[in-house]
Amino acid sequence: MKKDKKICVIGLGYIGLPTACYLASSGYQVIGVDINKKKIESLVKSKLPFFEPGLGKLFKTARKNLEISLKSQKADIFIISVPTPITSKKKADLKFVIQAAKDINKVLNNGNLVILESTVPPGTVEKVVLPILLKGHKNFKIYLSHAPERAIPGNTLLEMKNNDRIIGGIDKKSAFLAKQIYSSFVKGDICLTDATTAEFVKLIENTFRDINIAFANELAKLSDKIDVNVWEAIKLANLHPRVNIHSPGPGVGGHCIGVVPWFLINTRPNDTQAIKLARQINDSMPAYVIKYISLMLKGIKNPRITILGVAYKANVDDWRETPALQIIKLAKNKKWQVKIHDPLVKNFPYSITTDFNKATEDSDCLVLITNHNFYKKINPEQIRNMRVGILLIKKNGRKQVLK
Ligand SMILES: NC(=O)c1ccc[n+]([C@@H]2O[C@H](COP(=O)([O-])OP(=O)(O)OC[C@H]3O[C@@H](n4cnc5c(N)ncnc54)[C@H](O)[C@@H]3O)[C@@H](O)[C@H]2O)c1
Repeated sequence: MKKDKKICVIGLGYIGLPTACYLASSGYQVIGVDINKKKIESLVKSKLPFFEPGLGKLFKTARKNLEISLKSQKADIFIISVPTPITSKKKADLKFVIQAAKDINKVLNNGNLVILESTVPPGTVEKVVLPILLKGHKNFKIYLSHAPERAIPGNTLLEMKNNDRIIGGIDKKSAFLAKQIYSSFVKGDICLTDATTAEFVKLIENTFRDINIAFANELAKLSDKIDVNVWEAIKLANLHPRVNIHSPGPGVGGHCIGVVPWFLINTRPNDTQAIKLARQINDSMPAYVIKYISLMLKGIKNPRITILGVAYKANVDDWRETPALQIIKLAKNKKWQVKIHDPLVKNFPYSITTDFNKATEDSDCLVLITNHNFYKKINPEQIRNMRVGILLIKKNGRKQVLK
């Protein structure tokens, strides 16, 4: 059904592009905007800039209602979905959000609805975005909401549609209007609250997982000392009806879990001790992996290792904040020869191949960092349930699997 509202989606990344496609497919006239010229050029040619299951088909359906543009244009509704990384000092870098709000300010009309999807520190919507939007438009009545995204790469389309959603407005009508827009494709419940609570909810969801993973990583280190198999222990503990310990791994990557806790820590450093400690534990894991590999390589001259998988999680091509980067850097510092394989990742800072045989021939040690489905053929029995793990194979043919 054709809808009469025009929606401008700003930022056509992992979140913005599927959102724009869903809205266009449900009948809205959508203008998808990105400042990345290459991305726009490839989208105009109907070539997707990244891999996400089902997105090609959805994009095709959406295309007749989806205009692709380098610049924000006049619309009824604006959705901001730009990156919110952290600086080298671990502070939220809001420059993309600020720029997007400034771009909207230039084309804003009285009565417009603006929705911030990007993950931000508490108070950003009211204290940062609102004043920028209203600059020079003091007499405008505008509606402003925060609708944080919960979907996971690799299953984005299903989760965007089926997950429950939290929407927080600067007032009740802002939240209500945003809910109407998302209801066009979201099948989960949409719960309304205020903007700052919505910001906070998104941050505590990711932080909960970071702390849980830190606990699992600490258990892994402890288990090594007392000769217990941490994977078996966690599996058995999780049989308890109220226990759900996550999986240990080589560190935490991606745009959310390793980044977002800093938004909370920097809001109140003295009141976020457990969150900070969890970050430190998870950041210590690449060095722990290197320690293990060193043990395996003991006695081998000029060792050659192969890193299997550099995406931050299985079956995606996204390597942002991947712990593999730190592992590779530490391995190179040790003067080991490092070959890198990933079946999906392109444009990685180090030379990388999709040729598994080439990557593994002559290697003293295979280090499985990302449990892509592709690697399950190596030894399915041993690695079937791994989220992320390490497989080390010694030159003399002896195998050791560390999970
Ligand atoms: N990727 C995820 O799975 C995920 C999940 C939940 C939440 N989030 C949050 O969603 C937000 C977007 O994440 P993403 O993964 O889609 O990022 P992304 O880097 O994949 O895409 C963002 C896009 O915004 C564009 N951009 C930057 N400034 C712009 C501007 N002023 N105008 C137009 N385009 C601009 C960039 O060129 C880029 O293409 C972030 O805050 C992230 O934390 C992401």
